Amino acid sequence: MPAPSIAQLLGTQLPLIQAPMAGAQGSAMAIAASNAGALGSLPCAMLSADAMRAELEAVRSATGGRPFNVNFFAHHAPTPDAQREAAWRKALAPYYAEFGIDPAGIAGGAGRNPFSDAAADVLEDFKPAVVSFHFGLPSEDLLARVRKWGSKVLSSATTVEEAQWLAARGVDAVIAQGLEAGGHRGHFLSHDLSRQMGTFALLPQILKAVKLPVIAAGGIVDAATIRSAMAMGAAGVQVGTAYLLCPEATLSAPHRAALSGSDAAHRHTALTNLFTGRPARGIMNRVMRELGPISDAPPEFPLATAAFAPIRAKAESQGSGDFSPLWSGQNASGCKAIGAEELTRELAAAFQSP
Ligand SMILES: Cc1cc2nc3c(=O)[nH]c(=O)nc-3n(C[C@H](O)[C@H](O)[C@H](O)COP(=O)(O)O)c2cc1C
Repeated sequence: MPAPSIAQLLGTQLPLIQAPMAGAQGSAMAIAASNAGALGSLPCAMLSADAMRAELEAVRSATGGRPFNVNFFAHHAPTPDAQREAAWRKALAPYYAEFGIDPAGIAGGAGRNPFSDAAADVLEDFKPAVVSFHFGLPSEDLLARVRKWGSKVLSSATTVEEAQWLAARGVDAVIAQGLEAGGHRGHFLSHDLSRQMGTFALLPQILKAVKLPVIAAGGIVDAATIRSAMAMGAAGVQVGTAYLLCPEATLSAPHRAALSGSDAAHRHTALTNLFTGRPARGIMNRVMRELGPISDAPPEFPLATAAFAPIRAKAESQGSGDFSPLWSGQNASGCKAIGAEELTRELAAAFQSP
């Protein structure tokens, strides 16, 4: 018997989630996906409270009561460590010199914030149908606030243990994030990357271990990959990379260029911690080759970003993606430069009986 679909749980027409992608999309993509019957997602990890309110107002007013997802990171904000910051800036020194940047003028800072009471204060005015988290869950008090206003809660699991941990804390569904996935790995119990699995290894093991709907994510880009995940027992799918060439995506020009072109679907991707301090999958570029892709030099997530920012900005102003996070999953073959509403309708065909 097929698993009950997450469409019922989430109130959507389709068991399909447009993956939240911080820094790569905002309200426009969430609106397009929700209006085409999927669950559109608004990523909030990089938004101030005011920007978040404006984006939420835009989504609410353009989706006519259809459900949407609001996504947050749930990491523990680290204490800045002056020694590690100095070591990181030393590793980047040749690039400061190359681009004529004075490192003394670079401010520190986080750039990505975990879910907080301030974010919950804004969210409470909107009471979205779904709230999803990456890197675990926020504190029990914060989670209780979200539950009180009736939102369904989802979070990413990258191992069986993480799925069980999330199930024990009462999430409504687990997102099984396979190693193919673009962007940050959502792991939060163990930082040992050798424990990370591909989607089709992870999904069946999580399905066996928890009695919850499981959403497959990572490498799912078209009708064939959606049908495979659903046939294995997924209750739904979450698709990220395939949406990256839609006009609604807010990619830098070099990022869009790296994903375009005839051989783009076969680009070499790797996990790298250089851009933020945590492993994330992106297209291989110069700085990943020269400093990593995984290195001990960056400070704890998300503190690596600030020291990098002026180098990235300079390079991008010269049309180069050598120092930009070019987030992409391993399977970019579904990327199409068509509207997110049209892409969602194409993906929807996977759920119709043949
Ligand atoms: C550009 C980009 C940014 C991402 N940012 C987030 C994020 O802010 N929050 C989150 O929960 N997941 C984020 N992810 C991970 C996705 O939710 C999802 O796990 C992944 O896209 C699925 O694999 P795929 O890229 O192969 O479709 C991001 C992925 C990409 C490609």
